Amino acid sequence: MNVFESVLDAVGATPLIRLRRVTAGLTAQVWVKVEFANPGGSVKDRAALAMVRAAEELGELQPGGTIVEGSSGNTGVGLAMVAAQCGYTAVVVVPNTIAHEKVALLQAYGARVVATEGKLPREHPEHVNNLARRIAEETDGGWYANQYDNPANPRIHELTTGPEIWEQTGGRVTHLVAGIGTGGTISGTGRFLKRHGVTVVGTDPEASVYAGGDGSPYFVESVGHYLHPDTVEDTWPTAYDRAIVDRFERIPDGESLRVARRLAAEEGLLVGGSAGTAVAGALRVAAGLGPEHVVVAVLPDSGRNYLSKYFDDRWMTGMGFLDATEGPFVRDVVPQRGLAVVPATDTVAAVLARHGSGPVAVVVPRTSDAPTRSAPEVIGSVDPAELRALVAADPERAADSVTRHAGSAPAAVGHGENAAAATARIDGGKGPVLLLIDGRAVALVPRAVLEQRHETTG
Ligand SMILES: Cc1ncc(COP(=O)(O)O)c(C=O)c1O
Repeated sequence: MNVFESVLDAVGATPLIRLRRVTAGLTAQVWVKVEFANPGGSVKDRAALAMVRAAEELGELQPGGTIVEGSSGNTGVGLAMVAAQCGYTAVVVVPNTIAHEKVALLQAYGARVVATEGKLPREHPEHVNNLARRIAEETDGGWYANQYDNPANPRIHELTTGPEIWEQTGGRVTHLVAGIGTGGTISGTGRFLKRHGVTVVGTDPEASVYAGGDGSPYFVESVGHYLHPDTVEDTWPTAYDRAIVDRFERIPDGESLRVARRLAAEEGLLVGGSAGTAVAGALRVAAGLGPEHVVVAVLPDSGRNYLSKYFDDRWMTGMGFLDATEGPFVRDVVPQRGLAVVPATDTVAAVLARHGSGPVAVVVPRTSDAPTRSAPEVIGSVDPAELRALVAADPERAADSVTRHAGSAPAAVGHGENAAAATARIDGGKGPVLLLIDGRAVALVPRAVLEQRHETTG
């Protein structure tokens, strides 16, 4: 039996569980390292405890001091747990885009939560990490944990997570599959397991820049690397050692989230989106392997953090990740014609030179030849016919920035929503409607298309 003197002694030594059902048809074994079994509920307990212990040893954190960190939640929870147990104060700076359950959790542990704008360029003083560093500097006894560049983060995985997996599989593990946020998990665990000939596979959201995406927003939280279009110099965490990763699997959000839901429904494992990403990657890896192979995926946290998103059917269908139980669906009544876009930096004249008729999406400027855009990057819309009338009446308007006439972000519907339900949901609004597939805008259509087509078919 596991009996501990302190909650901190219960960090690590998490179970390894074999997947039995989502692996149907595969000959290689797939096992999962269940990191939500840590007392604070995530893989981050390991890093949080290790960083605090290292800071104490180095004298950077004194008794009664204040731990400050920028975190999308889990590291904050880990640090808050350690702080509570050891008599420190915890201040956690979070992006305002995170699931609200995560904020409530931090507060429940007694942490002070400071929310800041989530989508800011890396250089911005209010960026999560810059704000956390500043708060630490300005606080008496403050210490900035800095999980992104703190060597204690990857090191603890090299000392614990890696050896645990090696022992738990009796040395039979052949492939490690994990996502990359700070990179601590994959770099440390991978560094240990590579010494034993294990292949290390990184799973990355398709849009993340780690594995070559364009850096546009994605919906799986806490893994991958988003790139704000105004970021001048993109810096990657030093906790992430790229040389450790043998290859990548790039996973679209829809695949991650649907696998996460299958893990709950078919394996009884309620996990977060990044665990879905890792298992989606593990299933791809295992599909190419024979029975002598043992694939281990790391499941960073529990699905309890995401009940209002990934496990909410309405959120999933509204974002285009899931079909409603009954049709006709939005895609049955709205033609997908491709998305006409104009970057927010363009002028009215530029729009008129390139677009004839039909609504045009005004998007965050980004070097991308993708035919779709991440939904949050559509910040408004313009109608070329209206702009043409405007310029005819006042030619000076041609030099206006397009954003001046773009209004606000259009209403969005998921392609698998029930058409009548989607129409009712956005009823009362104005302007064109964005069609989403897997969280990405694929078309912008006049509102009448959704409403009238539905009446005639429905
Ligand atoms: C839910 C979740 N998944 C994955 C990760 C990524 O782990 P790492 O930072 O060790 O790369 C994190 C890190 O915060 C996380 O919270």
